[in-house]
Amino acid sequence: MCGLVGVIGDDNLRDEIFLGLHKLEYRGYDSAGIGYIDGGICTIKCVGGVDKLQSITHAINSKVCIAHTRWATHGGPSVINCHPHVSAGKSVCIVHNGIIENCDYLKNKYNINCVSDTDTEIVATLIEIKYLRTKDKLQSINEVINELKGSFALAILFDGDNSIYFARNISPLLIGFGKDKMYLCSDVLGMPNASKYIDLPNLSYGYITLSDYKVYHNGSIANCNIVDVGIDYTSASLGDYPHYMLKEIYEIPKVLKDTISYYVKNTKLVNRIKECVHRINKVVLIACGTSYHACLMGEKFFNEMGYLAYSCIASEFVYDSIPIDKNTLCILVSQSGETADTISALAKCKKAHCKTLCITNVVSSTIAKNCKIVMPIKCGPEIAVASTKAYNAQVLAMYVLQYIFKNKKLSTLHTHINKLIKLLDVSVIEKQSIKYIKHILSAKNIIMIGKNADYVSALEASLKFKEISYISSTALPCGELKHGTLALVDEDTLVIVFDTISKLRDKTSNIISQIKSRGGKILVISNKENNAANYMIALPNIKERFLPLVSVIPMQLISYKTCVACGYNPDKPRNLAKSVTVE
Ligand code: G6P
Repeated sequence: MCGLVGVIGDDNLRDEIFLGLHKLEYRGYDSAGIGYIDGGICTIKCVGGVDKLQSITHAINSKVCIAHTRWATHGGPSVINCHPHVSAGKSVCIVHNGIIENCDYLKNKYNINCVSDTDTEIVATLIEIKYLRTKDKLQSINEVINELKGSFALAILFDGDNSIYFARNISPLLIGFGKDKMYLCSDVLGMPNASKYIDLPNLSYGYITLSDYKVYHNGSIANCNIVDVGIDYTSASLGDYPHYMLKEIYEIPKVLKDTISYYVKNTKLVNRIKECVHRINKVVLIACGTSYHACLMGEKFFNEMGYLAYSCIASEFVYDSIPIDKNTLCILVSQSGETADTISALAKCKKAHCKTLCITNVVSSTIAKNCKIVMPIKCGPEIAVASTKAYNAQVLAMYVLQYIFKNKKLSTLHTHINKLIKLLDVSVIEKQSIKYIKHILSAKNIIMIGKNADYVSALEASLKFKEISYISSTALPCGELKHGTLALVDEDTLVIVFDTISKLRDKTSNIISQIKSRGGKILVISNKENNAANYMIALPNIKERFLPLVSVIPMQLISYKTCVACGYNPDKPRNLAKSVTVE
């Protein structure tokens, strides 16, 4: 979703700002722009990629620059709606992540006409109006943020001032310290030349200059910790892979290894999780998208242990009436830790005094900061919009929880995962998967089915597939096929069957017969040969109960290959964003 970056420095501003913008591209966006001061406020904007913006930006003769990648919410992708936005009197220039919920109210109250359809432009003019009256930039910003409803990370330029001002509420914003540069950025990945940073507190505002910074909260100086960036940027670069998505699928064995090793070593965290076990009578797992599918897998594990467990889609959970109280353990799963729907769900859990635990890849995220217990997954940055390695690691975190709740030794799980990793060769699965791309592309209908945990794999497979191939597919439990969707099955239908649970194999075979007798083609993903299948992808020969950790890998690869065969960019699917920071 939207990304913002600001840089102050004496030289190389163009290189630095575009380096940052390129690093933020992974979040998903449809237009981009920069703003700087060169004899007045200047902006350059375009619909399309950062490369395009760079090609029309020849030089930046300025000591300060702010920039933005926009994912359209208020108003479609257009140059007018693209950030930065400049105030009516042309003295203030801003970029904004988040949503100003009361922008229409403010437009009426102050009688401001905006040229764009955005909820951002009003903020620039409002700061200008306040500044004309107060002649105090910080006071003006503070007054404005006190009137704003919604979420915002704002970078602000005032004409004639070589500082970058800022304000934040809910949406993340960081100050970065480089060798001879200062940065402001929505994401630590967007300032690769910063060695240290401050994660700005909520409802803070202030400014950065080349040699100084000030952070305020409600008129008083706010104390902030400066921390090391501590990111291995090589894990955020492509290496020899053509796309991040493929790289990230290939990283799955390492991610599983790093995640389980982390828990084996971290007894303090494991003991904190153990404390929950005796005090809860219900488990609610909450997330969006791929992370929601990891919840569905976790729900099965908790049910097996005798807990009442429910998985909820975060945006629905906020409005539904599922009973929760202090004896409920709410598990929030979010790769980014910044998904707005999941953040709202967390607020509801906290209001009901539930115990909160999150499973996340970003321990400095909003969700992590607001949960009682934080369970990291050790994935390194996930850049491709469609989540892959994070899903496998989230499912592993569910196994870790199962072991802790059952009071079983994590060292035993560690041994199982090590054995699994030895048998998991992603390139072997890739070779098998490639063969079927032509059948996928020629099918009129694609249906994915499975029973129990295999149904969850089918759901995640179908989501991955449609996210990046733009081909419609549906996922359902095997037994549900005959209750409607079977009407779609004919000679042009491909049904992908997840078949990894031996005790359910007979039932799955019945369904395969029903499909074949109607002319449908069957692709089976399984650890056992299946003679009824037209096509087959063999999963590694690992213990059956750990197959949910790997059974989606063939479809992660098939989705990737199909997308590339169609000529699309798998890392940046249309209309989607990596981290959806608006509800
Ligand atoms: C977006 C991404 C999905 C992701 C979902 C939840 O929609 O495109 O890939 O699964 O957000 O993200 P989270 O960071 O909360 O896991």
